Amino acid sequence: MASSSSKLMVKVSAPATIANLGPGYDVIGMALDKPRDIVMASLERDGRDIVEIEGLWSQDISCDPKKNSAVVAGRAVLERAGMGSLSLKMKIIKGVPPRSGLGSSGASSAAGAYSVNVLLGMPLKGEEVLQCAMEGERAACGSPHADNVAPALFGGVVFISSFNPIRIIRFEAIKDLEIVVITPEVEIGEEKTKIARQILPREVPLQDMVRQTQAFGNLLVGLMRGDPILMGKGISTDVIIEPVRAKLIPKFYEMKKCAIESGAYGFSISGAGPSVFALCPTNMGEGLGKTLKSILEGEGVRSSYSVHRNAGEGVKVVS
Ligand code: HSE
Repeated sequence: MASSSSKLMVKVSAPATIANLGPGYDVIGMALDKPRDIVMASLERDGRDIVEIEGLWSQDISCDPKKNSAVVAGRAVLERAGMGSLSLKMKIIKGVPPRSGLGSSGASSAAGAYSVNVLLGMPLKGEEVLQCAMEGERAACGSPHADNVAPALFGGVVFISSFNPIRIIRFEAIKDLEIVVITPEVEIGEEKTKIARQILPREVPLQDMVRQTQAFGNLLVGLMRGDPILMGKGISTDVIIEPVRAKLIPKFYEMKKCAIESGAYGFSISGAGPSVFALCPTNMGEGLGKTLKSILEGEGVRSSYSVHRNAGEGVKVVS
């Protein structure tokens, strides 16, 4: 890392995110207030991209610049801006745990793309940076999905309204709500998201399509009206993705039942899992987290939980 050199260096951070929000597979995601990845980046002319990784999960992340999400996303910005001959030096401090379902590669991709755009003097518009960040996701799991990188870049809740051309609609952060995330310690392979995508059905019955559309409508209208009950009803109704992925999550339906009966507005899988989340009234998160943890303990499954807010802020320069 060139922190001691005279080159300009920028330090940015990007948040963890919850993708899908139940029925919105690949098209909606929410930024969380914590944890965040930090990327320090500078540009050189020595023809070699280099990345260093620090933090609790540094061993789990590839240092190969061709595979590292932050570098791949940053390089996509360089190429798109016509500056592909420059090389990247990056240092990543991982705050978002990899393979947990909290958008770890999305946070690194967003921070990687944004940091390079800042270093170049912001030549790319927001949606162009988003497309570059999606390349980081492609490097991480083989699919350039946008529902983690978009909220990691823009904060709040982001709906991806079109892929080609990429278009987003951003909602302000939802207030007066807590989000409890519980992560069971389960055996996860390196290609977790890739596998969690491969197991999904290629075709869906018409009646499932109808229910899923209805659920997603409830989620969006709930968001627009600031109605957490309607939003939660939408979140809790995923008849296509959840039934398949829930099989990989111990006690999923027991946790869901318990969360809803305890007064949570909605409950679903966070991204590709194995984390799950509940949207709930303020001051409920801590107690619900403990209860859900005890359900997993009863099954001999260790877990951790955390209580969050929806962050209004996405990626940002930090000092
Ligand atoms: N929409 C993606 C999926 C998010 O569910 O596979 C992955 O974090």
